[in-house]
Amino acid sequence: MGFQHQRILVLDFGSQYTQLIARRIRESHVYSEILPYNVPLARILEYRPAGLVLSGGPASVYDRKAPSIPKPILDAGVPILGICYGMQLVTHLLGGSVARAAHREYGPATLLIDDHTDLFKGFEGATGHPTAWMSHGDRIERMPPGFRAIARTANSPVAAMKTTDRDRRIYCLQFHPEVAHTENGAAILRNFVYDICGVKPDWTMRSFKAETIAAIRDQVGTGKLLCALSGGVDSSVAAVLAHEAVGDRLTCLFVDHGLLREGEARLVCETFAKHFKIKLKLINASSRFISLLESVNDPERKRKIIGRAFIKEFESFAQRAGKAAWLVQGTLYPDVIESVSFKGPSATIKTHHNVGGLPSRMRFRLIEPLRELFKDEVRELGRELGLPEEIIGRQPFPGPGLAIRILGPVTKERLGIVRKADAIVEQEIRKAGYYDRVWQAFAVLLPVKTVGVMGDQRTYDNVVAVRAVTSVDGMTADWARLPADVLGSISTRIINEVKGVNRVVFDISSKPPSTIEWE
Ligand code: XMP
Repeated sequence: MGFQHQRILVLDFGSQYTQLIARRIRESHVYSEILPYNVPLARILEYRPAGLVLSGGPASVYDRKAPSIPKPILDAGVPILGICYGMQLVTHLLGGSVARAAHREYGPATLLIDDHTDLFKGFEGATGHPTAWMSHGDRIERMPPGFRAIARTANSPVAAMKTTDRDRRIYCLQFHPEVAHTENGAAILRNFVYDICGVKPDWTMRSFKAETIAAIRDQVGTGKLLCALSGGVDSSVAAVLAHEAVGDRLTCLFVDHGLLREGEARLVCETFAKHFKIKLKLINASSRFISLLESVNDPERKRKIIGRAFIKEFESFAQRAGKAAWLVQGTLYPDVIESVSFKGPSATIKTHHNVGGLPSRMRFRLIEPLRELFKDEVRELGRELGLPEEIIGRQPFPGPGLAIRILGPVTKERLGIVRKADAIVEQEIRKAGYYDRVWQAFAVLLPVKTVGVMGDQRTYDNVVAVRAVTSVDGMTADWARLPADVLGSISTRIINEVKGVNRVVFDISSKPPSTIEWE
């Protein structure tokens, strides 16, 4: 899967933008993967990369523990693009010098390009002075022998450089071509990938789909597959892909733990039965799950209880269904990436119960057809497979569901409140045209009561917090600047329509230091 394609490897030195580099390259239909900077050269060469990108990073090459690479990587005959720290490292390793910049440069700078061949091809004329996004404290004082400058900014005489020997093909940028703030940055990356590395843009979701279906067929032979559906995008896409490969030999299990969003179980069941004719077993386990949570306050205990209860349901189903050797999981690339910058704080802060985290004693062999994809690519693949927009465009939803959006014990009554409030948030956000512009928007039921007045009556009722965030990958997030009138209608509707709520507040915290979910 994917491995028939030429690839560009990105070595990660810890930049917050590393993931973006891989995404931009993939957007130009070239397969790209991220590896930590310290993988051995032999392993890099095993991948037979068509090109190597050295990412940015927070270190200075003069730090005592500055991350580095063995120098022979630079002489392996693979074209190299060093970005920011990557540029400084190349300079340092090849005999140039790097120094603290007199003015640290953060933010936009005008790029003056002096060489319009290869890397900056197409930047003549109107696009000749693009804005470049800078984020560095060190700068190139003296280039290594055999390099020349190809672009500058007011504060960086060497904003870009390349080897004079055409066969060496090492290119470096002081700025970040991968961020949206760099004008035409994607074109610079495309020039590197297409022209300098000579890669054909043949990595599309269509080719991925065909190759993956063929690979699953090969792998499974005549075996049977099980798939745990959660209703989310990832497991739905994985299930449809597996179904295209093996048809009726796939059975999906959808455990309704009673903690889903309004109408979710019905939407998933109808879609799978009607559009895809996939064998789907729905288990309504809501009363079992809710009874386990009725007196539980602690968020981690909630997560663990739900995780264990799910496994129990799955085990008993698997025993009844018999003889499935394979388990399909919707694991995504960010979950498997072995990299410096991806060890986001949330991994250790919350037990993430991904439906499908099943015990090894169940002895399934795993099929993870989405292991190489980012979330937006999974959505594109879903469209390619004909999944309806209602499922593909659905905002992420945590495995433990509404349980972690009810602070304190989960009861049927409190579930009813949060589910209704959540549906209102979704409806109003959609109506205002914000559904696709925010990463997530939802309601949280707080464990406090406040005084209010309705009609002429004093009330003493629950508080609902509305959370809406923008994010690229869920690792970091900012609160969404929703217009006041959208917030106003959400609040009015929740208070009027959801019995038991007399106050609505809006969460204005970013991640970090907060997290997206409240528990
Ligand atoms: P936090 O709250 O850690 O969430 O900032 C980051 C993203 O992950 C989702 N999330 C989960 N997803 N199982 C999941 O599959 C979980 O247990 C889980 N907890 C949080 C959350 O909705 C957000 O998109």
